[in-house]
Amino acid sequence: MLNQQPLNNLSGGDVGQLKYSVAPMEGFTTFPMRAWLYMVSQPESMTTPFLRVTRTHPDGQLPMLFAPELFELRGAFPYSLTPQLITGDVELFLQTADLLPPDVSNAIELNCGCPSPSCVGKHAGSGILRDPASFGATIERLISSLGPQRLAIKMRLGLDDPAEFNNLLPHVASLPLSQLTVHGRTRADRYRGKARWDLIQQAAQTSKTPTWASGDVCGKESAAELLATAPNITGAMIGRGLLRNPWVFEELRSDTHQKISITTLANALLCYALLNDLSITAPEKLIAKMGRGRLVSYCGSDAGAWERTTAELTEMVCRVPMVLSSGCSVLDIRMVQTAFARMRMLWSYLRTSLPDSFSSPKLMRAKTSNDFFSQLFEIARAESLNDELITLQHHTEWDELFGGTRGTS
Ligand SMILES: Cc1cc2nc3c(=O)[nH]c(=O)nc-3n(C[C@H](O)[C@H](O)[C@H](O)COP(=O)(O)O)c2cc1C
Repeated sequence: MLNQQPLNNLSGGDVGQLKYSVAPMEGFTTFPMRAWLYMVSQPESMTTPFLRVTRTHPDGQLPMLFAPELFELRGAFPYSLTPQLITGDVELFLQTADLLPPDVSNAIELNCGCPSPSCVGKHAGSGILRDPASFGATIERLISSLGPQRLAIKMRLGLDDPAEFNNLLPHVASLPLSQLTVHGRTRADRYRGKARWDLIQQAAQTSKTPTWASGDVCGKESAAELLATAPNITGAMIGRGLLRNPWVFEELRSDTHQKISITTLANALLCYALLNDLSITAPEKLIAKMGRGRLVSYCGSDAGAWERTTAELTEMVCRVPMVLSSGCSVLDIRMVQTAFARMRMLWSYLRTSLPDSFSSPKLMRAKTSNDFFSQLFEIARAESLNDELITLQHHTEWDELFGGTRGTS
């Protein structure tokens, strides 16, 4: 197993002057994915997907899997975790902030970007950006209650027009936030079109808060392009780029595209599915195990490390330690359908960093994990890739599918 590096040895995570972190993505960067991403490429920092705060939710207690890294698993993982909340109501935000341990979470983030009509209609998410003065007043009230450098915000450029950003930015630029993250799109853009890195640079120049960019970073090439356009930013959050290539943080740290064998990739994917299975069927057992220091290890692209982790997880789920290997018939691994569905969803992004043959519809149509891995090994065999190391790399020709057109125009 590769050694787990303490966080302060990860300063190599800054390439040039940039730091990188895991962008919050509802439905993806939940606890099992965060634990898995740590095994895959050791990001330094992550943000939870938003927790929707309403009058009835959360009812005096945070969901167990919202941020166990700040509670039962405090100190177990070396990455820092910022909890994100979404609400347009200052009092409800503060009540929920009180449920978080004050000493471990360096900041709490307010989501000012979600485009969903149900948020916007309640002046939450990007709806909070409708009135610049009231946006500024809301943020000021939160800071005066939480204290300086205790609130982070993640905002879009505006609702309909990037020009709105010029009116919004002055209301927060001089406030003592802990972090300002700008997703360089408007609500109307949703997730399509190029993120406006030029406007993010403007925010970084104007704001007295460390400013982070969000949008369109998929690997070392786009990170270098971002840094050239926005040299004053502190860091970049990586969203869909990490789904397309979960090894991207290692790529950025080492400035090298990562290489992996198909068997190791298969075991890593299986681990992701099994972590999801356990988070659904036995979350307490999973947390207890991690609390004892198990399953908290960096595997990278190391075959042996992934085999050991796969064996440990299959033992927990199936009571028998098993690993995938291209030479053997595929194992009969039973898992809950949602866990497999989450793995397949990740795969729909990840395949775009691999050679084209892995985008076969047969894989996308697989109904079970056994079916999926048999097909995967069959493709590798047909392409004589079983014993090869495959380079994981951002292929710009897929960008249009995921909404951004950077690199194709
Ligand atoms: C499926 C999905 C879920 C998302 N959920 C959240 C969220 O919970 N909170 C948030 O601030 N942003 C959320 N975002 C926005 C991302 O954090 C990020 O700002 C956006 O995807 C742009 O970055 P990218 O081009 O690197 O994907 C989500 C994006 C996607 C695609």
